[in-house]
Amino acid sequence: MDRRDFLKTTAALASVSVAGSAVTACAQDTSNKDSDVFWQTIINQYKVTDEFINLNAGHWGIMSEPVRKAFNEHTEFINAYSSHYVGHGRSANPNARNYNVERMEIIQMLAKKLGVQSDELVFTRGATESMQLLISGYNKIRPGDSVLYADAAYYSMAAEMRHLEAYRGANVVQLTMPDPVDFQGSINLFEQGIKDNPNTKLILLTHMANRTGVIIPVKEITEMARSYGVDVIVDMAHSWGQLDYNFVDQGTDFVGFNLHKWIGAPLGTGFMYIKKNRMLDIDTKSSKGLPGNNDINNRTQTGTMNLAAVMSVREALNFVDAIGIRHIDKRFRALRNEWTKEFINDDRVDILSPEDERMHCGLTSFRINAHNDARELAKTLLNDYAINTAAIPEYNGIRVSPGFYSSKADMATLAVAIKDIANKQG
Ligand SMILES: Cc1ncc(COP(=O)(O)O)c(C=O)c1O
Repeated sequence: MDRRDFLKTTAALASVSVAGSAVTACAQDTSNKDSDVFWQTIINQYKVTDEFINLNAGHWGIMSEPVRKAFNEHTEFINAYSSHYVGHGRSANPNARNYNVERMEIIQMLAKKLGVQSDELVFTRGATESMQLLISGYNKIRPGDSVLYADAAYYSMAAEMRHLEAYRGANVVQLTMPDPVDFQGSINLFEQGIKDNPNTKLILLTHMANRTGVIIPVKEITEMARSYGVDVIVDMAHSWGQLDYNFVDQGTDFVGFNLHKWIGAPLGTGFMYIKKNRMLDIDTKSSKGLPGNNDINNRTQTGTMNLAAVMSVREALNFVDAIGIRHIDKRFRALRNEWTKEFINDDRVDILSPEDERMHCGLTSFRINAHNDARELAKTLLNDYAINTAAIPEYNGIRVSPGFYSSKADMATLAVAIKDIANKQG
């Protein structure tokens, strides 16, 4: 089947599905936030290209229209008011808008959503920056201490951990995540790592792995590590905003987040969490506070940020909060299951995140066993089937990450494409 034939076929498939949801629409109203008819109202608030189906929301999330419009307005405002907004504007006129006041209002929104204090959070430009600051700033490592991470870690965080050898004299240990992995197996991996390296001081955890979508039990691993006196730094780049969990319950002290993936804020937005009573364990930046200073703001030095992007975090939070994380989580699982269900009994295709509901949400990868070149497979999906995904060569797989704008018809189209390719592989 060539691309045009495929698009014709899948358009027919999508229209069957849309007709199906129209029937459902008669029976349901949009107040049921788990219904397709409700989610169509969300999809309608995104402007996405119709050149391809975008199943790579894991790279970054597209802004909804209310957020995009707010971002444009904030950009116009910043452009007009310039440094008046961050500088003396307010001292000259107490009614003038002021960035620091508005920034703190948004930090308070984030703190409330997480259930933490606002002086435990600071804006960064993304999860990479947050995690680099936490890993490189963690100052409890003595020469010869061990630090552990699993191969499921995001590459730049793994690199930052490896840097601890040169910078702190650490013994850096990479653990291999079992494939497939189960709930207890992921806890055992880190516990065995600590037992094999009794001088372990620090572990890096990736809550949801970017290559497979595997979710590890951060709470249980953190508790286990703490019982050995080991600290954890957690990368929540993919979990927060996609997955419904209670942040405080995880019991973590050092966490990196972004806001441009699953919260849908403009690119270049993220933040970092440090529990107040652990502040001194992360170094201050030399240009800010001296050691002993416990202000989280002195643990970053971003320089001038994209203020309009930070200001738009307010509208992004309002948008996702109006839906509610419980419904977002459920929706992403439904989108995942819409295509993975087609392969549960198909030995030609492996799904790379476990069926255990605690260990997956929306982002999930697959491999076609007879196909041995992930990059070529991603190219085929895009060129022949108009589906944008991400190649995961380390697992010979393809990452599928639907967004808020994805429909079940999109996922069904993906399943048809995978089957078509698997059939051709023989
Ligand atoms: C697990 C994980 N951590 C961190 C990042 C980096 O995020 P950011 O773009 O916010 O720096 C990514 C990006 O894909 C990721 O998948």
